Amino acid sequence: MAEIKLEKIEKSYGSTKVVHGIDLEINDKEFVVLVGPSGCGKSTTLRMVAGLEEISGGNLIIGDQTVNTVSPSDRGVAMVFQDYALYPHMTVYENMAFGLRLKKLSESEIDERVQEAARMLDLGPYLKRKPAALSGGQRQRVAMGRAVVKKAKVFLFDEPLSNLDAKLRAKMRAEIKRFHLNSKTTTVYVTHDQLEAMTLADTIVVMKDGVIEQSGTPLEVFDNPNSTFVATFIGSPSMNLSDIEWKREGERVVVKFKGVSTELPLPEDKAKLLPEGSGSATLGIRPSDIFISNKESCPSPDWIVEAEVLMVEALGKNAFVTFKIGENEFMGEVMGRDLPTEGGRVTVGLNLCHCHLFDQKSGRNLNI
Ligand SMILES: Nc1ncnc2c1ncn2[C@@H]1O[C@H](COP(=O)(O)OP(=O)(O)O)[C@@H](O)[C@H]1O
Ligand SMILES: [Mg+2]
Repeated sequence: MAEIKLEKIEKSYGSTKVVHGIDLEINDKEFVVLVGPSGCGKSTTLRMVAGLEEISGGNLIIGDQTVNTVSPSDRGVAMVFQDYALYPHMTVYENMAFGLRLKKLSESEIDERVQEAARMLDLGPYLKRKPAALSGGQRQRVAMGRAVVKKAKVFLFDEPLSNLDAKLRAKMRAEIKRFHLNSKTTTVYVTHDQLEAMTLADTIVVMKDGVIEQSGTPLEVFDNPNSTFVATFIGSPSMNLSDIEWKREGERVVVKFKGVSTELPLPEDKAKLLPEGSGSATLGIRPSDIFISNKESCPSPDWIVEAEVLMVEALGKNAFVTFKIGENEFMGEVMGRDLPTEGGRVTVGLNLCHCHLFDQKSGRNLNI
């Protein structure tokens, strides 16, 4: 078991810096997910922890040891890659035993570890098979088994589910979560998929352009995004962003969407973020906080307005409906089967108590 500390970790390739001084503390037994768009530096950061990539600046501490120059095999970490990298000519058993043989462990110790990993990962019936005779999910489990037999202090996963189809991805996601609940090994997991990040993480670390944009529990990041970047990256469908214009005279604040004459009754805790004078800002509201207001299931909304229905995407138990309010388009997540028709007009309700206000230029949440 081990804590991991990244102190101002940097990575440059030649004169190009791709990781810009990352500070991160990972607790013993914690499951941390690095998430962000492609190219933001997730794999590079993980590979520096693994020792597969040289660290250009800062300190990496695992347990109580600074490991910047310690070789990968002496760091007590085990990494699972996206492409599994199994040996095709070896059986499942031999794939898992291979690393242990290199370490010259006794046959009985190797057998004990492989059998234990096979039990944990339900690989017992497949130990004599070669990778070609396994399904994608089984291969993925063998790749995990190879990490498990090492009895590593830290597991590192780099997009381990990206090669699987959607259904299997969901199943393996649950298996990885269950596995972590049982093994309680410190884990750093890289993905570009916000759903994987939300469902697996104790702590989500959202990265952008080689820096940490925000970290916190999944719900903290979902409910209190620091920026429009995090607000739209986490959560699906994405948070709606729309320009508003505001004017404050003392206690009186008037807020309107572009092209909408009625005032937006912002709740007190949001309205107080707007200073004296006037200006514009970005309002963010999640699709799940927009309703068709004449439906019985609609909670009492803070604001009701006429909207045009532009598009309806029915999913069965719910639908994504694109509304036009004034000059602004919003996607709402409408529950149930009683759906509006495209081109029609409806009354929609917005739960403004869950909205966010962002600075238009920097994208920063006005509450920080
Ligand atoms: N060996 C390399 N040489 C030069 N640039 C690299 C190298 N590896 C990665 N990069 C660059 O570093 C950035 C971060 O890459 P990476 O960590 O793989 O991103 P992610 O895993 O988040 O998709 C990218 O812009 C990528 O092009
Ligand atoms: Mg990557």
